[in-house]
Amino acid sequence: MTSLVETQHQESEQQISSAKKLSKTSILMHWSVGSLMIGIMAIGFFMTWNERYDLYSLHKSLGVLILPLALARIAWRMKKGFPEPVAPMDNLKVIAAKVVHYLLLASTVILPVSGMVGSAAGGYGVPFFGMSLIDAVPQDMRPVNETLASFAHTTHYIAGYVLAGVLILHVAGALWHHVIMKDRTLKRMLGR
Ligand code: HEM
Ligand code: HEM
Repeated sequence: MTSLVETQHQESEQQISSAKKLSKTSILMHWSVGSLMIGIMAIGFFMTWNERYDLYSLHKSLGVLILPLALARIAWRMKKGFPEPVAPMDNLKVIAAKVVHYLLLASTVILPVSGMVGSAAGGYGVPFFGMSLIDAVPQDMRPVNETLASFAHTTHYIAGYVLAGVLILHVAGALWHHVIMKDRTLKRMLGR
């Protein structure tokens, strides 16, 4: 017969291994919001640097689409808390990873909101895949609100570059775990 001590030991081992797994929802939300963010950011830089005005409405539509997904993801994270590290790490690395995760989550809201406010206040309008969420105004009436448009535009610009920098740190961190530390951090986010 299994003793009480053995049963308790098995239960705590199960708790540890389930705490180290990520739910399917966490993984799905990470990769859906993450790949959209990378795609929208890449289009944003490409269209601005190459003056590809034909891509603006795709960039804006995808940017609008991501906002409800990003808010759902943040609500889920607040409810469930951040995942525990797969292996013990020193405090500095834990804090660095936390700061990066918070900045990434914040960028998923700051970028779409500043983009929408900037486009609306600038008078250029906010399209959504062939529909118009906020109509553009005739050229001689632009900007609708110059102060707001310029504040939102600067925020969008700075947040775009901060996202790019933080994302490089994030991917470097994931690769450091996988290649140097050889732990399960990346595998766990890939559902393995
Ligand atoms: C190729 C790109 C990416 C890779 C390889 C990657 C990899 C990972 C890995 C391995 C973790 C788990 C960290 C841990 O267990 O502590 C993680 C967590 C996280 N990643 Fe990424 N990631 C990528 C892109 C992104 C993007 C674009 C965003 C958001 C803009 C993002 C936001 C987050 C957040 C907020 C977490 C914390 C855990 C969570 O909320 O699910 N990641 N990422
Ligand atoms: C996740 C969402 C978004 C991301 C990651 C993102 C990222 C970017 C990036 C990196 C740039 C290039 C910055 C530069 O070099 O000037 C950019 C430009 C731009 N974005 Fe976004 N954006 C997002 C959402 C939106 C939304 C929702 C709108 C409007 C509805 C928008 C409107 C614009 C406009 C108009 C520009 C060009 C600014 C200019 O010509 O100077 N963006 N975006």
